[in-house]
Formats: sequence, structure tokens, C-alpha cells
Amino acid sequence: MNALVVYFSRTGTTRKVAETIASSLGADIEAIHESKDRRGLRGYLRSAFDGTLGRWVPTDAVDRDPTRYDLVIVGTPVWGWSLSAPVRSFLSNHARRLHKVAFFVTEGGGGARRVFEQMAQVVAADPVATLALAQRDVERGTVSSAIESFLAALPKKATAP
Ligand SMILES: Cc1cc2nc3c(=O)[nH]c(=O)nc-3n(C[C@H](O)[C@H](O)[C@H](O)COP(=O)(O)O)c2cc1C
Repeated sequence: MNALVVYFSRTGTTRKVAETIASSLGADIEAIHESKDRRGLRGYLRSAFDGTLGRWVPTDAVDRDPTRYDLVIVGTPVWGWSLSAPVRSFLSNHARRLHKVAFFVTEGGGGARRVFEQMAQVVAADPVATLALAQRDVERGTVSSAIESFLAALPKKATAP
């Protein structure tokens, strides 16, 4: 199945997971970029507001066309028990046009379930698989078996159109 991994990461945790998933699957990978400065305390607060208030923010178009992939695996950090604003924008820009979707989140301690619901709502599709990882476990390198279970739950073949 041809798969694309798309993610946003402010501090590198979600990127690490995205890279592991993409290299395990031999999938293409795209980071979502935006012009907002999210560094430091101001960046943190800006991100918390954008996440909690469910804001759409302008993002650069990704290089590859996600609608051409059988499966798009989307990763986001949790921001204020919510979906991060750049990933919200990506999903909303492609709502109803993606084939199959799978979601993963990295989090400090809570909110993943709510974020999966938000992601499904924004993209108007239920995920074929989900994965929630704590940031500390990603840093400790103790997430391999959770990632393997997630990969095992992904569909192996494209269904005929
Ligand atoms: C603005 C902001 C709000 C956050 N809110 C939550 C939260 O509600 N629940 C949680 O578990 N983690 C929260 N976190 C922690 C991040 O989800 C976590 O550190 C994540 O792994 C960061 O991913 P990244 O390094 O890819 O940016 C928040 C982080 C930021 C920057």
C-alpha cells in the first residue's frame, strides 16, 4: 500500500515517531511548515491558544499530493487537550479527499482520545488505526512495541477503487 506520513512537530518528539513509522513502512514523509514563531514562552502560549480555540492557521502546502496515497498517516502533538493548529489546518484543507487515514499523537500526559475525535471530525473520516505515545517514553526509547502494534493494524493492500 502506498503511504504518506504527514506530521507537525514543535520540539521534535512527533518528528521522531513520524520518521520511525515512515522508515518502517518505506513510506514518503512530509513535515507541515508554517510561518508562525512557536519558540519560547510566547510561542508556547500562542500554540496553547491556537490548539484550545481550534484555530485554523496558514500552513505551506506539502510537496506531495496526499490525495494520491492509499493511506495518509497523520501525526500531531497534543496542545491544550486539542489537536495542534497546523495539523488541524492540514486536515481541514484535505477534508473528504483523503483515502484511508491513520492518526498518531505524542503528549505530555493526556488528551489523546479527544484529539483523535477532533482529527476524525475535521477530516470527516474514521482512522484505520491510532497510536498515542507519551513524550517521555519517546525520549526513553520505550515505544517500539506500541509502534509495531500500530503498524500491524494498518491495512496491507489497497482496496480496488
Ligand atoms: C502549547 C502546548 C500545549 C500542550 N498541551 C498538552 C496537553 O493538553 N496534554 C498533554 O498531554 N500534553 C500537552 N503538551 C505537551 C505536548 O503534547 C508534548 O510535549 C508533545 O510530545 C510535543 O511534541 P513535539 O515535540 O512534536 O512538538 C502541550 C505542549 C504545548 C507546546
